[in-house]
Amino acid sequence: MSNEAVVSLRNVTKRVGRKTLINNLTFDVPQGEIFGFLGPNGAGKTTTIRMMVGLMSITSGEIIIKGKNIKSEFEQAIRHVGAIVENPEMYKFLSGYRNLIHYARMVPGVTKERIDEIVKLVKLEDRIHDKVKRYSLGMRQRLGVAQALLHRPSLLILDEPTNGLDPAGIRELRDYLRYLTRTEGITVIVSSHLLTEMELMCDRVAILNQGKLVDVKPIEDFIGSNDQAQTYLIEASVDEVMIASIREMAGIQEVQAVPEGLEIVTERNQIPDILFYLTEKGIRIYGVRAVRQSLEDRFLEITGGGQVG
Ligand SMILES: Nc1ncnc2c1ncn2[C@@H]1O[C@H](COP(=O)(O)OP(=O)(O)OP(=O)(O)O)[C@@H](O)[C@H]1O
Ligand SMILES: [Mg+2]
Repeated sequence: MSNEAVVSLRNVTKRVGRKTLINNLTFDVPQGEIFGFLGPNGAGKTTTIRMMVGLMSITSGEIIIKGKNIKSEFEQAIRHVGAIVENPEMYKFLSGYRNLIHYARMVPGVTKERIDEIVKLVKLEDRIHDKVKRYSLGMRQRLGVAQALLHRPSLLILDEPTNGLDPAGIRELRDYLRYLTRTEGITVIVSSHLLTEMELMCDRVAILNQGKLVDVKPIEDFIGSNDQAQTYLIEASVDEVMIASIREMAGIQEVQAVPEGLEIVTERNQIPDILFYLTEKGIRIYGVRAVRQSLEDRFLEITGGGQVG
């Protein structure tokens, strides 16, 4: 993976009348990454994407794609982009294949071989000659992705790609996007208001709220890693005296009784000693697990309890 940014936003602002929809966004997305825009309804995800693909003008600031400015070098910049913003336009009475052929006519350099290759890539071989109106939502999504990929973009932008997909469809899309970044070196930007999906899909996320960038972080930073102290739940029946004595142990930052047993805040490498200690005292342990702070908790913390869509 190269460190060169595929997309750079520099102080991007969008105003409509007196309203500031996007306020001074600055961040980079490196090659090969799956990058997420996360934020509640109305945060500005779609607006940012619309500016990135030239569907909306930029009030001030710069968007650079593969070194080309989307404002002043539009043709050269947009060549690198494949996007699905809102619902992709499809002719429902035509087959998926006919739709791709129709689209390919508008894009220079797309051959029949490329269409076949893409159909295989999105795993629609078996159904590509069926009419689109007979497709499931997930199949329509995949056809949309196929269309967006036909001209070999290096950046794929998908606005709310998991909308309307079931959990299996979401997992499939995620695996598929991973596959694309690995095999074709494509960079992917997805937006969502659903935190759990971003957690599963992205390498990094930018949190947007009311048109502002709240934070950009690798996904691990939101969910905590192994060598940091975190909360563990030990399922056992323990009394107050036992809790007080655990509190005295080295490496324990916090202990509290919960209905299932006790919750401790400690580093992972302390767990064996704690379990050994409890077992030695004759306490029966029924389970131990890390209680992850979810992205949702983090999000609420960061945005100061702002509503989550
Ligand atoms: N053309 C426009 N003119 C005026 N205001 C607009 C325009 N387009 C969007 N907005 C406003 O900009 C804000 C951000 O909207 P946007 O669609 O970017 O949010 P979003 O993060 O994509 O939300 P959602 O999760 O609902 O898709 C909203 O308050 C919206 O009403
Ligand atoms: Mg939107």
